[in-house]
Amino acid sequence: MDIDLFEKYESNVRGYIRSFPTIFTRAKNATVWDHKGKSYIDFFGGAGSLNYGHNDPAVQQAMIEYIQRDGMLNALDKATDAKYNFIKKFQETILLPRGMDYKIQFVGPTGTNAVETALKLARKVKQRSTVVAFTNAYHGHTLGALAVTGNEFYQDDYYGVPLNVTKMPFDNYFDNDLDSVDMLRRYYEDGSSGHDLPAAIIVETIQGEGGINVASIAWLQKLSKMCQDLDIILIIDDIQVGNGRTGNFFSFERADIQPDIITISKSIGTGLPMAIVLMKPEIDQWEPGEHTGTFRGNSLAFVAGATALARWDTDDFSKEIVAKGLQVEQRFRAIAARFPDYICDVRGLGMIWGIASSVDGFCSEVSREAFEHGLLAETAGATGQVIKFLAPLTISQRELDEGLDILEASIAAVAAKNPINA
Ligand SMILES: Cc1ncc(COP(=O)(O)O)c(C=O)c1O
Repeated sequence: MDIDLFEKYESNVRGYIRSFPTIFTRAKNATVWDHKGKSYIDFFGGAGSLNYGHNDPAVQQAMIEYIQRDGMLNALDKATDAKYNFIKKFQETILLPRGMDYKIQFVGPTGTNAVETALKLARKVKQRSTVVAFTNAYHGHTLGALAVTGNEFYQDDYYGVPLNVTKMPFDNYFDNDLDSVDMLRRYYEDGSSGHDLPAAIIVETIQGEGGINVASIAWLQKLSKMCQDLDIILIIDDIQVGNGRTGNFFSFERADIQPDIITISKSIGTGLPMAIVLMKPEIDQWEPGEHTGTFRGNSLAFVAGATALARWDTDDFSKEIVAKGLQVEQRFRAIAARFPDYICDVRGLGMIWGIASSVDGFCSEVSREAFEHGLLAETAGATGQVIKFLAPLTISQRELDEGLDILEASIAAVAAKNPINA
């Protein structure tokens, strides 16, 4: 096998293959192997879709059994036993214990389909077209989701998408007391501010692609309260930081709020394509078949997802995530203290962490260096100024230690190659 085949036949649009230029053949938990037999520790975690690790044995077994008994693979949105078991498990294990009364909608298979659906539903329910999104937000690449995404690299006016979206500063966007929720409330309470009341506000509680920006509990609570007071639908996009990433199943649990609509994807199918929208029952105002599509729900993802959700039967998994996250944080802070000329910030929560550099190109070079030494770690942020930790939540102690060692050695190597004030 030769990597040049992709260069020759696959579209120029391919992305991650450029960061990790090899051919992967096998994967287990947080380790992947390429066609030459070289192993890599996976701190990338399928961009948040592998929270339960690669090829979890229980998930594999459940899928094999389903296939071998000729379980229905494609059912559109007909009822199947696979879907029944998934909904039941999700209700019993995740929603009911949290006192959450939500209907579930299965949408097209990727996160952006969930975002698209949430925006469409909010606009339909409120009969208003404006939506508010935040600086550095990332919500996907179909046109509606792209319109609420910040990064200019993905935008182009000729897509015609920026219509009816107001972009506001995320929490702490300015290093001063300017609070975008206070600002929004003032606009909406002033009938001559020129700002229409929006149908919805869409927000990530931690901006993953945007550079690991963590919204404070106080800001999230204030946002939620304003939405309730002013009859605005609050959509929390939990596609990247839901599914246990922050230690709780949902990332907004720490703020003790219940959004009107929640988008979930990535790890909900343990890495198989599946996306869902959760909505409070009164918001479920769809006509039958009004928002449809061929691939809504995915039988194998139902089977895999229901199996993986068993990890949430007790709070052991949650405790494990918090403990591992603390180790990552401590190590990242120690690395930052060792390289103060290169690292300007460490930020994150639970098992999502970022090391930010103010030196141009530093993090991309670290990512390349780490890849050479057997670690997959991607960058985040508008200019790739953050090295991102998004390993499977199930990563073993050995894999975690080994990955952190490679990362620190890579930072040291890149710093040595780029002396400051030399
Ligand atoms: C917060 C968030 N929303 C939406 C998406 C889009 O999901 P997908 O790439 O599956 O379309 C992503 C993807 O990274 C994301 O992080």
